[in-house]
Amino acid sequence: MIDHRLHRLYRHFQELPISMRVLFTGTLLAIGMGYMFALIYVYASDAGRDGNPALTVEDIQMSYRGSPDGTKLEAALTGPMSAMLSVGDRVEIVEWINDGAGKDGFESIVRPIFEKNCLDCHDGSNPHLDNLDGYENTQHVVEQDTGTDLFTLVRVSHIHLFGVTFIFFIVGFIFSHAFIRPIWFKSAVIFTPFLCIAADVSSWYFTKLFAGFAWVVMISGGLMAASFAFMWVVSMYQMWFYTPPKFVLDTDGQGPASP
Ligand code: HEC
Repeated sequence: MIDHRLHRLYRHFQELPISMRVLFTGTLLAIGMGYMFALIYVYASDAGRDGNPALTVEDIQMSYRGSPDGTKLEAALTGPMSAMLSVGDRVEIVEWINDGAGKDGFESIVRPIFEKNCLDCHDGSNPHLDNLDGYENTQHVVEQDTGTDLFTLVRVSHIHLFGVTFIFFIVGFIFSHAFIRPIWFKSAVIFTPFLCIAADVSSWYFTKLFAGFAWVVMISGGLMAASFAFMWVVSMYQMWFYTPPKFVLDTDGQGPASP
């Protein structure tokens, strides 16, 4: 049964001026594209760390805890950097690491591979990329991999919390004009992403301590994407194609506003 009461401040999309609907539509299109790129980025940087091309809980564990038996260099070569060199070269580097990552092996085997495939970006000129130019500089990527370091997590946490709050404030605000019953369901859809981002970001740290928290990272990311998709599709649909029940457009007794 549909609840006929409406809050006096509630306005359905179809009551809003065309200009506002155009603004909402443009915003949703751009934010939707942004979300796609964010998903591609997560996939490209984390999926495949464990050898399985899908994004798995093991990938998340390796990204936050480090790989139990590998170095940062091995993790990069099987993950985000895997496309940068041939399989044969990768095997040579992994063998060099397993043999103790000595200086002689570096000069004869690894240096030529790095010069050919990696130094375009990793020559030290970009302070955010590991410098792979020379044996000394390479030392820190062949130490035991303990996953993303705390400082990086703190940096990414605040960026994520601010960014995600912006996105879901905007999308949730737009979606608040949709006609959805029951109202608790509508509210839950709006609130879920905020719960998820809090659970997600704190689980990055907990995953360092207990591997099981990688599940929370995975599930909250999935729920967040699901509420985003739901709000996006429903808002677009109700804005342009849907005819709400008559009482919705008749909130103030004056009928639908003209555009
Ligand atoms: C086209 C530029 C480019 C090339 C070529 C390149 N890398 Fe990278 N590399 C990057 C970028 C950008 C990042 C940061 C990626 C990120 O944070 O997701 C990175 C990250 C890394 C990391 C750190 C990964 C981590 O977990 O923090 C290592 C190690 C690495 N690369 C090694 C290599 C090796 C070895 C090669 C050559 C086989 C190589 N890279 C070739 C751009 C490049």
